[in-house]
Amino acid sequence: MALVTRTEIEAFERKLDEAVRTGHADDLDVIGYGEITIAVKLSTPHGQFACKRLVPFSSRQAAERYAALIGSYVEQLGARGVDVVETQTRILERLQGHVLYCVQPLLAPGTLGPDFLRGKTAEEAAPYVQRIFEKIQASVSPTLAPDGQLSNWAFQGERLRYLDVGTPFLRDERGRQLVDFTEQTRALPAPVRVIVDRFMLREILSAYHSTRGQAVDFLGNLIKEGLGDIFPPLISVANAVFGLTPEITEKEVRAHYKSDARTWELMQAARRADRWLYRNILRKPYPYLLPPRIERLG
Ligand SMILES: Nc1ncnc2c1ncn2[C@@H]1O[C@H](COP(=O)(O)OP(=O)(O)O)[C@@H](O)[C@H]1O
Ligand SMILES: [Mg+2]
Repeated sequence: MALVTRTEIEAFERKLDEAVRTGHADDLDVIGYGEITIAVKLSTPHGQFACKRLVPFSSRQAAERYAALIGSYVEQLGARGVDVVETQTRILERLQGHVLYCVQPLLAPGTLGPDFLRGKTAEEAAPYVQRIFEKIQASVSPTLAPDGQLSNWAFQGERLRYLDVGTPFLRDERGRQLVDFTEQTRALPAPVRVIVDRFMLREILSAYHSTRGQAVDFLGNLIKEGLGDIFPPLISVANAVFGLTPEITEKEVRAHYKSDARTWELMQAARRADRWLYRNILRKPYPYLLPPRIERLG
């Protein structure tokens, strides 16, 4: 399954690399800042694509293993009835390591979850949110989990598509993560990374494998997306679909959102400080693109 050719992705990588080195993302068509990756648009004569560059891997073997896990993740989500956007992985050898790209056909902007729900009342949004919850309910298990946040879903005609496969939440029967997440936290400055890897990662990850964790995170994330006024009425949809006891309350969602926002702020602040250090003290280009400061609502 080839969406883009090796020549196309290599030319794209050179452009992106240039932008990273100079710190000018202006020449790039950034379509989305995720929590970890950046999605950039690539236009070719045979269509438009979303290219997502993951953190460089230390060896080809690690990159290949990760690509294989993405393949398995897409397959397993599909088997649970999640309609995953066609995804191609590509590994490029670069000075900074083995760069892994996830390439997907570009989805039209209005179809992405947050765009799609914007301007809708809670009542209008409820059936769409319910469809997402049903897919989460069908796919979350001790060994598999999507990242259920609204920004990872798209409403394309009758289809509900899932697009975030860059972080495969997969565990074996004994509860061990198949992905070495410490490869991904390499984008964080060393002191922060140690804390995250050692104390926070396990808890963050286990929330994905629980429908309660998914529901609370989905609802809290609506505040971040500027959809805070439609979220309270959607709590009952979550309680109905997931059949949770005790039921989720607005207070629980707001408390989760506050602590999540604090963690995110802290990590971004650390990364900005790290970038400053690179540029002004080490006098080296900072090797990552950072999301712009976001205005958290609520
Ligand atoms: N195929 C796609 N078409 C259009 N936009 C996309 C596509 N894939 C990702 N995006 C945009 O980029 C954002 C981040 O991508 P995602 O795969 O969710 O990465 P992350 O793991 O960093 O959240 C998405 O929320 C969405 O806005
Ligand atoms: Mg995402």
